[in-house]
Amino acid sequence: MTALKPHERILVALDTDDVKTATTLARKLKGLVGGVKIGKEFFTANGPQGAKKVAALGMPLFLDLKFHDIPNTVAQAVRAATALGPLMLNVHTGGGPAMMTAAVKAARSAAKEFNVPRPWVLGVTVLTSLSADDLAATGVRRGSVQSQVLRLAELAQDCKLDGVVCSPKEVTALRKALGKKFKLVVPGIRPTWASSDDQKRIMTPAKAIACGADYLVIGRAITSAKDPLEAAKRIVDEIEAG
Ligand code: C5P
Repeated sequence: MTALKPHERILVALDTDDVKTATTLARKLKGLVGGVKIGKEFFTANGPQGAKKVAALGMPLFLDLKFHDIPNTVAQAVRAATALGPLMLNVHTGGGPAMMTAAVKAARSAAKEFNVPRPWVLGVTVLTSLSADDLAATGVRRGSVQSQVLRLAELAQDCKLDGVVCSPKEVTALRKALGKKFKLVVPGIRPTWASSDDQKRIMTPAKAIACGADYLVIGRAITSAKDPLEAAKRIVDEIEAG
């Protein structure tokens, strides 16, 4: 695989329930960033028809629906999601090995069925909103959040997932443990000039790439900027400068 250009590493989170808002912004950013992400808010409001309108812009799409259910149900959901032609989609690693394996298998067979490229299946490990105490409250008492993230990411790799979504603070350790090919897709990114909003464990775009991130999921630093195009260009320049 040829190295990604700096702008190709940026996936803009279109966190809105409005199709027009999402597609208008995406259209403006086309060519300046690597792709867009739509998640549960957008998808629950607009369904696959809304997702198809975003996909029709021809930008790489991250379908962030974080499937978590029994293997058969997740496999069927992955099949339906694959029909939309995303570059990547995701499942919760907490769904277990059989679920993850079923998701990968479904992505492969659905890609053939719908004649689209096979989407990457990414794992969500520990939600960044959870603290060690929250994990303990759910019965996960072994070690730190960091070690649980690593355990689940290794499980994802064993199940042939393509990568994981992880916090910037986890990138260095995961890259070291999981090798060069395992994709690390990283939200919680803030340039120094942007507000941190509700994100606590943030990192600048250039630093996250230097630590080994493949893709950066960036929402408000671009979408809430006075001039989103200018913000995107500034981030690309910062990544380029290293
Ligand atoms: O606006 P901001 O850049 O914080 O948006 C980050 C995006 O990444 C949002 O869509 C958010 O849901 C998502 N995300 C995150 N932290 C995670 C997983 C996903 O912020 N651990």
